[in-house]
Amino acid sequence: MKRILSGIKPTGKLTLGNYIGALKNFANYQEDGESFIFIADLHALTLPIDPDFLRDNIRDIAAFYIASGLDPNKVTLFRQSRVPQHSELAIILQNYLYMGELSRMTQFKDAAENLNQNAIGLGLFAYPVLMAADIVLYDANIVPVGEDQTQHVEITRDLVNRMNNRYGKGTLILPEAQISKVGKRIMSLSDPTKKMSKSDPKGDIFLTDTPKQIRKKIMSAQTDSGSEVIYDPKNKPGISNLLMIYAALKEVSIEEAEKTFANSMYGEFKKAVADVVVSELEALQSRYEAAINSGEVEAILLKGEARAREVADVCLHRVQKAVGLR
Ligand code: AMP
Ligand code: TRP
Repeated sequence: MKRILSGIKPTGKLTLGNYIGALKNFANYQEDGESFIFIADLHALTLPIDPDFLRDNIRDIAAFYIASGLDPNKVTLFRQSRVPQHSELAIILQNYLYMGELSRMTQFKDAAENLNQNAIGLGLFAYPVLMAADIVLYDANIVPVGEDQTQHVEITRDLVNRMNNRYGKGTLILPEAQISKVGKRIMSLSDPTKKMSKSDPKGDIFLTDTPKQIRKKIMSAQTDSGSEVIYDPKNKPGISNLLMIYAALKEVSIEEAEKTFANSMYGEFKKAVADVVVSELEALQSRYEAAINSGEVEAILLKGEARAREVADVCLHRVQKAVGLR
């Protein structure tokens, strides 16, 4: 049976980009194999974060996992920090990823650019080591993520090949990133040449936004010159982004979405996109409220963590044995 693994770091309120690129996909995989979906709370410490904010965020992401349709009876949901095997394996694996390759990671370079060069935490630099540990610990075959994470899965694959060459085939399982066809990279509404990210309040739609906020942001989203609703990310990044959002939520192809709006003006098109986003997020929010109000989130995580520790021990022991620690 295939193993599927992914996670989101609780560094801010979840966005529509997180939902379309990651969250919505996770539920699609739960029938395809055994899924492990976690909250990357240790990764959240790689940049400064307020403890109370972090605590609330962890709970929120867990509730959004449940709200997005992940069935805790089928999927193992857990907090990374409650499964110490992640940290134990990362300490071993850090010896097999090299400083040169870590310094070339785009996510590191982008984050480091905004920091005082004398105060870049080691954890930020070593981020891919822990992420590789997250993935291989569950012998994951498939890692559903948005496009921005492919480099991290690639470096994990390099590491797996390196370990297997040195210690024997089957020491680690080779994972593969799975990027959704539609919606792999949702762009900011205020600047459609930039990725929608948790730290961009103007260009973001947050999963907790009210219908009024959502409509306002979409109706004022930056669009392009011309008047045709066509998919052309280079010349029409704003319209293309909205088409992508529509297609992803309606679960149709971009071509089908284009056909639907072949005769529409921008205003009418934007209104249709806003309607789809509002209806999807209203339903999601009510399931999120239900999850929080059920008071079961903590128990679901505790149960997931017990299972995760059991599974993770198998790989950890195998690696400890391979390298000579057992
Ligand atoms: P992060 O917010 O960096 O923790 O990302 C969590 C997951 O959401 C990862 O799989 C990302 O690739 C995905 N993701 C984040 N932002 C976007 C976006 N704008 N479009 C598509 N996927 C995204
Ligand atoms: N780096 C991912 C992000 O920023 C989060 C993450 C941590 C992750 N460990 C992972 C994703 C393992 C997939 C698999 O979104």
